[in-house]
Order: sequence, then C-alpha cells, then structure tokens
Amino acid sequence: MPVSDQAFVTLATNDVYCQGALVLGQSLRNQRATRKLVVLITPQVSSLLRVILSKVFDEVIEVNLIDSADYIHLAFLKRPELGVTLTKLHCWTLTHYSKCVFLDADTLVLSNIDELFDRTEFSAAPDPGWPDCFNSGVFVFQPSLETHGLLLQHATDHGSFDGADQGLLNSFFSSWSTADIHKHLPFIYNLSSNTAYTYSPAFKRFGSSVKVVHFLGPSKPWNYKYNPQTGSVLEEGSGLANQHQTSFLNLWWKIYQHSVLPLYSSFRDEEERASPGHSADIGEPCTKPAVGSSQPWPAEGPSEQTVVTDDTPPSPKGCHSEDQLADKAEGGPPVETLEPSQEPPVDVTGDPSPQDALEVDLAMSVFEISIEEKVKELSPEEERRKWEEGRIDYMGKDAFARIQEKLDRFLQ
Ligand code: UDP
Ligand code: GLC
Ligand code: MN
Repeated sequence: MPVSDQAFVTLATNDVYCQGALVLGQSLRNQRATRKLVVLITPQVSSLLRVILSKVFDEVIEVNLIDSADYIHLAFLKRPELGVTLTKLHCWTLTHYSKCVFLDADTLVLSNIDELFDRTEFSAAPDPGWPDCFNSGVFVFQPSLETHGLLLQHATDHGSFDGADQGLLNSFFSSWSTADIHKHLPFIYNLSSNTAYTYSPAFKRFGSSVKVVHFLGPSKPWNYKYNPQTGSVLEEGSGLANQHQTSFLNLWWKIYQHSVLPLYSSFRDEEERASPGHSADIGEPCTKPAVGSSQPWPAEGPSEQTVVTDDTPPSPKGCHSEDQLADKAEGGPPVETLEPSQEPPVDVTGDPSPQDALEVDLAMSVFEISIEEKVKELSPEEERRKWEEGRIDYMGKDAFARIQEKLDRFLQ
C-alpha cells in the first residue's frame, strides 16, 4: 500500500548531481518503493533537468543553497566542493511528511528498503572512516520546522567540524554512537562501494545482503566512462579499486542507460510534437527560480509537484534572518552562508567541480552512445545547426556545465 505521508528524499544542487538523483530515484522505483519520492533542488538546477526530474520524482522542491564557506575544514576533508551539502538541512522543512528517509544523490538502492520507515529520528549507519560517527548519506528523520531552526542555529553557533553536513549532524545528534542501538542502521543500508575493498571477507560473507550502495568519495559513477556494448565501465584511467566496486558502477550505468537517458529523448519528442522544428527550445535556462505559470513543466508531469520559490520560503521566518545566515549572492540565486561578512563571495553558479568525461550524447538513442566520441569543438554555425536539428551535443568534460553554456548562447 502506498504511504503518502512519508517520503524518500534526496538533494541535487546542480545538473551533474541531478544525474545521480535520477538513477537513485529510478532505483527506488525499480525496487517498488511505497513512499513518495522527493528531490530538493536549488536555483542553479536548469529547466531541462527540472523537467526530467519531474518524470521520476513525485515532488521537485526548490530550496535556497546553503554554503558553509568553511574553506579551511573543507580543505582538510579534501572535498572543497562539499560546503553546499549544508543545503541538506532543508529536508527538515518537508513537514507535509511525518517521516522521511534521506539518501545522498550518489547512492543506489538494490532492494526494497521500505522497512527503514520503522526506524525513528535520528537513525543512520556508521561512517566507514570513523565508525563512532554516522555517515550522513542515508538517514531517517522527522521533518520539523523547530528542528530545522535548531540545526541552522547550531550551524551558525558552532560551524561544522568537517565543513559540511556530516560534521554538523554528528555534533547535533551527538548521542547517536552511545544512546540507542536501534538508531544504528546496519551497514548494508549504506555500504560504501570502496570500503568493500578494505574488508573483502566481510563483503564475501554479507555482500549479497547489501541494500544501498553509496559511491562515497570524490569519484562518482558519472565520472567513469562506460561502454554500453560490454555493459561495463572502463578501467582505463578510472582508478577502479576492486571488482565489487566495478559491478556496482556497472549497475548504476545500466540504470542510467536504460531508464534515465530515454527520458531525455522522450522529452525531446514531446517538445517536437508540441512545437515542430523547435525541439531545442526547452524554456528559459535556469538562472532564476521557476515561478508560477512560466514554469517549464510538461503537462503530464506527476500530480503533486511543488516548486517552492523565494516567495514561499520553505523555512520559517526567523531561521534565515540576516544576522544568522547571510545571502551573499549579488543578483544571483540566493545563497546562505554560515560566516557573514569576512569571507570572499562564494561561487554561486552551481557549476560542477571539474568532472571527468561523461561521454554520452543525451539526445542520441542509448544504443548510439559511442565511447569513441570525444569532445568536439564545433563552429558556431555547426553548433546552431545541431541545435536546430534537435541534435544537442551534451558530450564531454563538464558535460552539464556545457549544456548550460550552450543554452545561454543559443537563447541569446
Ligand atoms: N551534493 C549536491 N551538490 C554538490 C555536492 C553534493 O547536490 O555539489 C549533494 C548530493 O546529494 C550528494 C550529497 O550532497 O550526494 C553529499 O555529497 P557527496 O555525495 O559528494 O559526498 P560524499 O558522500 O562523497 O562524502
Ligand atoms: C560524508 C557523507 C556525505 C556528506 C559529506 C560531508 O562523507 O557521505 O553525505 O555530505 O560527508 O559532510
Ligand atoms: Mn555521498
């Protein structure tokens, strides 16, 4: 029986992480999840990806980006890009749900995990790097504006020891390691794909029970090259650690190829039917939140779509007061940071950090994906012709940042 007041929730602050969210959402659907699927996005996510996300998720909800701007701790973590994960805290504003399970966009669900809703806040699995801390890639929580406010206050008062959400959540829910064993999720609900390598005998013994794989760390599935002919990611230059990791990566790519890529082609076909000859016109590039009637959602999208804009902030008044969290974006999308004034302006473009090649052309049929394709610089005329033919070239390094650039140029 579907349960409509509970939800699986994820987060994507840019178009690259949206690819992960799409595979995660599809993997939950494949495993017949009986709860709603919700993705939190920020203003940096493009109109195209909002439409595609709406085909997989019941709700696509826009929230403000929160960036810790804590460069020192983030440098120590060796993940300078993770300050924006504080945006995760906005999941507590989803008060139309009584309970939720948060999953990072780099997780993949292998079996039905509805039983996680039997757990209570705050349940999470141990972090493989420091098991007295929980990993914040999978957790059970109860939306509450009060908790949301307290978390933001805690962030402002104490910061985060890793500069991102996991440090903050661990110091906020500080009794997790000792208080209640029921709040310790088994590791099979958040198996870090690269730690299978560090304890192979355990993986051999328990690996078949794994329910959620987490592609923790700087290399994400979308950074690997995939050969659809062999159904396998390429080893070359990819730093693959072990065969278990490879099979999880292959699974991720299989879902991407079979269920996510076709969403782009079907979207293009719908657009072509609606407006022959203008299939590349996907609406305004997302530099602002989509508001009201100008939103580019397809008519047949899921029923319970909500776009929370700045006019209807998801958080209670007072939690975002300027003395707590400063909005550093000038004319750009709103960004909240934890350390007002002294810091240099943060990058609010949402551009992905340098990514390895994602060599797919989303506008081509999946069977035409060729690993031989390389980034090609086209002349403006050639590029324009390809757009007009609906042959949008999404290939190459920083593929999704390139989409945005091309959209901007094309629509000017
Ligand atoms: N995230 C995001 N945009 C970013 C970085 C992170 O949306 O630029 C979200 C996404 O849901 C991601 C989560 O925050 O899965 C945590 O980041 P990541 O998974 O990269 O951290 P890791 O698990 O590798 O420590
Ligand atoms: C962790 C978690 C991730 C979190 C990051 C930063 O490794 O997997 O969800 O965003 O740390 O705190
Ligand atoms: Mn993660």
